[in-house]
Amino acid sequence: MDKFLDIKGVSFSYSNAKVLSNISMSVGKGDFVGLIGPNGSGKTTLLKLILGILPIQSGTIKINGISLAKFDDWSKIGYVPQKATNIEVQFPATVNEVVAMGLLSGKRFPKIFNSEDSKRVTEALKTVHMERYADKRIGELSGGQQQRVLIARAMISNPEILFLDEPTTGVDQESQHNFYDLLGELNSKGTTIVLVSHDIGRITRHVTKVASLNQKLEFYGTHKEFCANDKKHKHEYHSHHLCLDRG
Ligand SMILES: Nc1ncnc2c1ncn2[C@@H]1O[C@H](COP(=O)(O)OP(=O)(O)OP(=O)(O)O)[C@@H](O)[C@H]1O
Ligand SMILES: [Mg+2]
Repeated sequence: MDKFLDIKGVSFSYSNAKVLSNISMSVGKGDFVGLIGPNGSGKTTLLKLILGILPIQSGTIKINGISLAKFDDWSKIGYVPQKATNIEVQFPATVNEVVAMGLLSGKRFPKIFNSEDSKRVTEALKTVHMERYADKRIGELSGGQQQRVLIARAMISNPEILFLDEPTTGVDQESQHNFYDLLGELNSKGTTIVLVSHDIGRITRHVTKVASLNQKLEFYGTHKEFCANDKKHKHEYHSHHLCLDRG
């Protein structure tokens, strides 16, 4: 489907402060969108609107042609939230259990886990190189390790579209690299991806489209167009890897 995610004329205010102004953009199946913009530009707010966490005030959002109010197939959607890593040391769940929660939305009641499920949990943990920590309490891991577990949780249900809000914050460079390669691989197998960051240096060259947000959508186009326009646009981003030649 051409417009897997279709956003039209969306504006949003918290109490009386306008945060998003008339945003329209559509994401096709198989796109890999890098959503950039400075701190406070409304990126997380836009994601929360798409995910139904915040109510629509004006405009429309459709997923797969279905307006959000009627959409209920949330297993199609994976989400790694920003700043998810303030987990209490005593939080009573193991790494295995946290990743398994990613399967719940795809299950009908009763939610009973079988050996197939635990295989998938192990596979997901392997992709983020965290299988050794499977039985540790989540709160005992470092911030970057917790982040990797949350990424595994978002990917385990094989979502059709994956939203990642600053997913590599606190993750070291090498893991970030592996993680982006993994996203590129998922994307080449057909997963649609929206990767959010305030730091253009953290947007991978695997992206096919770039959206630049600052209350308004200042730019939305292909990676190629973005890089061709890069100098004309008043981005503060002078030296970044996004527009270097793809290796
Ligand atoms: N729950 C809230 N109540 C009131 N204002 C909020 C709330 N959440 C965010 N804001 C404000 O809305 C604006 C946009 O915030 P948002 O979190 O969407 O930005 P962002 O682009 O994700 O920023 P960052 O790069 O720092 O994550 C900011 O000015 C912020 O202070
Ligand atoms: Mg944010």
